Amino acid sequence: MTTTPSRPIRLDALAYGGDYNPDQWPEEVWVEDARLMREAGVNLVSLPVFSWPRIEKTQGTYDFDWLDRVINLLWEHGIKVDLATATATPPAWLIREHPEILPHNVHGQRLEFGSRQAYCPSSPVFRSHALRLTEAMAVRYAEHPALALWHISNEYGDHVPRCWCPVSGAHFRRWLESRYGDIDGLNEAWGTSCWGQHYLSFDHIEPPRTSMGPINPSQLLDFERFGSDALLELFQSEIDVLRRVTPDIPVTTNFMSLFKELDYWDFAAVEDVVTDDAYPDPGDPLAHVPAALNYGLMRSLKSGQPWLLLEQAPSAVSWRDVNVPKAPGRMRLDSYQAIAHGSDGAMFFQWRQARFGPEKFHSAMLGHRGEKSRTFAETAALGAELKKIDAVRGSRVSARVALVVDWDSWWGSSANDSLPSQRLDWLEQARAWHGALFALGQTVDVVKAGGGFESPFARYDVVVVPNLYVVTQEQAEALTSFVEGGGHLVVGPFSGVVDPTEKIHPGGAPGPLRNLLGVEVDEWWPLADGDTGAITLAGSDHEIETWSEWIDVADSAEVVATYSTGVLDGRAAIVRNASGAGAAWYLSAALRENGLEAVLGQILDAASVDRRQHPNRLLEVVTRVGDDESFTFFLNHGADEILVQAPAAAVDLLCGADIPIGADIRLPGFGVAVLAHRTLDLTPTSL
Ligand code: GAL
Repeated sequence: MTTTPSRPIRLDALAYGGDYNPDQWPEEVWVEDARLMREAGVNLVSLPVFSWPRIEKTQGTYDFDWLDRVINLLWEHGIKVDLATATATPPAWLIREHPEILPHNVHGQRLEFGSRQAYCPSSPVFRSHALRLTEAMAVRYAEHPALALWHISNEYGDHVPRCWCPVSGAHFRRWLESRYGDIDGLNEAWGTSCWGQHYLSFDHIEPPRTSMGPINPSQLLDFERFGSDALLELFQSEIDVLRRVTPDIPVTTNFMSLFKELDYWDFAAVEDVVTDDAYPDPGDPLAHVPAALNYGLMRSLKSGQPWLLLEQAPSAVSWRDVNVPKAPGRMRLDSYQAIAHGSDGAMFFQWRQARFGPEKFHSAMLGHRGEKSRTFAETAALGAELKKIDAVRGSRVSARVALVVDWDSWWGSSANDSLPSQRLDWLEQARAWHGALFALGQTVDVVKAGGGFESPFARYDVVVVPNLYVVTQEQAEALTSFVEGGGHLVVGPFSGVVDPTEKIHPGGAPGPLRNLLGVEVDEWWPLADGDTGAITLAGSDHEIETWSEWIDVADSAEVVATYSTGVLDGRAAIVRNASGAGAAWYLSAALRENGLEAVLGQILDAASVDRRQHPNRLLEVVTRVGDDESFTFFLNHGADEILVQAPAAAVDLLCGADIPIGADIRLPGFGVAVLAHRTLDLTPTSL
């Protein structure tokens, strides 16, 4: 089963390459770059991401000659471009003419020029200049045969996800007015009768800057939504220009994996191809586990369509406190992991390692030692090897389990300081749940909370919801019909708490999920710092931390686990409620890894989803399903050899050997195997 987006990247191979900053180098180096890129199998480069001042030297005075020369040179070497609109960083001349473009932080202080992304997302002045440049770029390169993809801006929100300046304030007020219609609507939604917050006019509302005490949570949640929408509006305005001038060229902006500040469901909906920047920490031996969740999100943002890993580090980055390099083989393994998860290629930041600026210690495909650098040797080897797995292009990842990611719930449950506990971290929970599923051998897709016109859950056997703090009636109905239709649903603590205006659902949590889950929360019972507790599940004790709840259980529901410590000792901790052809589970506590593995393992069994009996976080097996054949990737994320068995008669694409069913495949430390075989019902236990 292969899919192509309506406007696919104009490339007929897996994408391989990286960011290229030719304006940091004299022209003779470009010639060497193009030669070495070709040698390394590079076929796509991203440029000129931060070159606005070099292209538009003063307002309306463009210098495209140098860029023409670079792009032509690349094209002569068979390399296409992921062409940046170059609007990621406004030039100093523009800032000095219009200092009002500069963003303000939450304390109302203006941030000074001197780094990148020096703009307020709501600034109409910035936008009009950015769109002028976008149009000039589009007109200039519309017909260039090297143009494969538009790269709009760069990592929206990386440095300035929110702005609290007066211009943003006015934009926020307009946004609120269109959301609520009139000020009475806003007063009702925001519950302004609490703490004397009543407003007479939208003009009286400001963005939530540093205040004297806790800020109205409804205002905070709306500001998060607004902040994401403000950047989305900017993104859309560039897309509009590009679609007008170059209607057939696909557009993208590079995401930042699971990034709290932007609701990527909305961003993905308006672009052609999802691209992501991922920087798993080589210093963390389990960094590939959250990476798998990020990649699950990326492929799911456009219903399973292939996406592209646009940036990763060939070795060390330069922005952590300690920047551990990637051991030999690790860069190859990380690239294959993204491809296994649906990326149609592997790209890097950056091609040539910088000699100056904040990224001079950041690794590159071509290190400071040039051709002699280790990263170049590994880059060239991988570039050659990827040609052997070209058949995977367009195939889709197979998954029976999905995890719900909902930005409203992420923001609402963590963006304010008036919560039962600050310790229940949305992302940590999502990662812990996913980590347990990973250990149990599952490939996990990501789904929206639902409630739209089409149920996102239908193609899965198991849907897990680590947290759904904000829930609507519609979403509850979509989850209910999934369960009634035979699905298995697992919902985590502190879910079903508020409606989209941040009001507690009548009767308390889990609000509209009450009948489905068969529980009512009487009180949240967070654990004091340093305290742990336990639950008993099937005769074994499992540790809990951070969070527990006093819940009452409906007659229809079955208690699966009870608390075995503290005030809640003997009370229900995990509950199962059968409904229609399926069942819903509610986990009222924050479990540690082994507890999550035990609970989720039981639920996978109930749903007849095969799983590993012995959880393993170092071996990953992912299958992509194509039209005529499937591709199973075996990834050894550990340093020690692992032996796996071929699930079917297959061809090992990397070494070309025919492999009989059941044959041993040796995966050395950080080793990879990619088997092509007929499509079968592969199960993690058979792998
Ligand atoms: C990304 C960014 C790149 C580069 C890279 C370094 O966040 O898009 O321009 O800075 O990080 O890791």
